[in-house]
Amino acid sequence: MNRRSFQSPPNVCVVAGDDSAPEVVHPTVEVLRSLVPAIRFVEAPCGREAQARCGEAFPQQTREAIDAADCTLFGASGGPSRPILWYLRWGKLTHINVRPVRWYPGYNSPMRYPERIDYVIARDNLEGMYPPREGDVSELAALPSSSSWWQAPPVEEKGAYAVRISTDRQMSKVAQAACELALQRQQAGYPGRVTLGAKYSIQPRTDGRFREIVRETVKQHPTLSYQEFLVDDLARRLVAVPETLDVVVLGNEHGDILADAASGTIGGLGLAPSACYGDNYAYFEPVHGSAPDLVGKGIINPTAMLLSGAMMLDYLGYTAQARALELAVAQTYREGRVLPVDQGGQATTIEFVNAVKARLR
Ligand code: NAD
Ligand code: IPM
Ligand code: MN
Repeated sequence: MNRRSFQSPPNVCVVAGDDSAPEVVHPTVEVLRSLVPAIRFVEAPCGREAQARCGEAFPQQTREAIDAADCTLFGASGGPSRPILWYLRWGKLTHINVRPVRWYPGYNSPMRYPERIDYVIARDNLEGMYPPREGDVSELAALPSSSSWWQAPPVEEKGAYAVRISTDRQMSKVAQAACELALQRQQAGYPGRVTLGAKYSIQPRTDGRFREIVRETVKQHPTLSYQEFLVDDLARRLVAVPETLDVVVLGNEHGDILADAASGTIGGLGLAPSACYGDNYAYFEPVHGSAPDLVGKGIINPTAMLLSGAMMLDYLGYTAQARALELAVAQTYREGRVLPVDQGGQATTIEFVNAVKARLR
């Protein structure tokens, strides 16, 4: 997606992130290095370590390393590295967050028929309620409701409000990215179906407009089909009828929440990769956060990070190596002898990565 020309050899900035994230980033970089020795990985300081070494959590040298690279591999922010994540989103205008939801045999899913789960969430990565803009309710005195059941805002009360932004430009980019993804998947045998989940019933000017834009964009691609659901009903569908989903397009906060829920259906956050694409930049990170409860235990599941690395190889044009990595992960789970702790096994992070490495060919 959004392929462009890259430096030769490609240059990847590595931002390991906070808490447990470096425990999955470092072994993943090793695997990627062994798969494509040509890639130049440049690790940039971040978070607490950068604070100690450079006096700030997001030093200039890290910004320069991100800018100089073709893309960034990002662990997760537990707080200190958040300004870097913000830069990767709004500084680099990575407008779409692609979060594949796919069960592989051996994943510890709580579902009875998990083999039905194989779709992709396309999440707005820039707007909605992100980045947070909040204020005092007293500022809302002049604001009419978009509902016919008009209720004056409680401006006399002590309280706050949050703002949600939807620009036509960004909604169109999200819609186009979702269609591109559906077309690509269609070539690989998927149905070419775009499903919108939004709250157009109560937010006509933001989600209602989003619906109009997605509908119109899908119409421009005659081979694609379209369905739409209120996002609360869509949440049920992720669990009850995942086989009806192909590309699910969602606003920023809906996509954030439903991607975690979707990961629960395949077996958890340890298994859910993601990629964020812009017109001129991309970064790759797992769906999960910095898992502070696992720090130093050596048992965090590296699968989500490894599969995010495979998405990065795809982006850089190393398609065969990307498939090889996915196959090695899939084979390790299928065999079921070496499984991470969150998947019911006993393997440490490194033991699992070694098992995947041994299955790479
Ligand atoms: P989390 O995803 O870090 O953890 C939620 C639960 O899932 C925890 O029990 C954790 O142990 C488990 N988990 C997560 N990843 C796992 C893995 N790879 N293997 C095994 N278990 C795993 O979410 P949280 O606890 O709500 O948030 C912790 C921090 O991470 C917060 O500061 C949050 O803001 C941040 N966060 C960052 C990102 C990001 O950088 N993109 C994403 C989500 C959360
Ligand atoms: C994610 C995370 C982030 C988000 C946080 C860390 C700001 O939950 O990438 O899913 O809410 O987008
Ligand atoms: Mn999230």
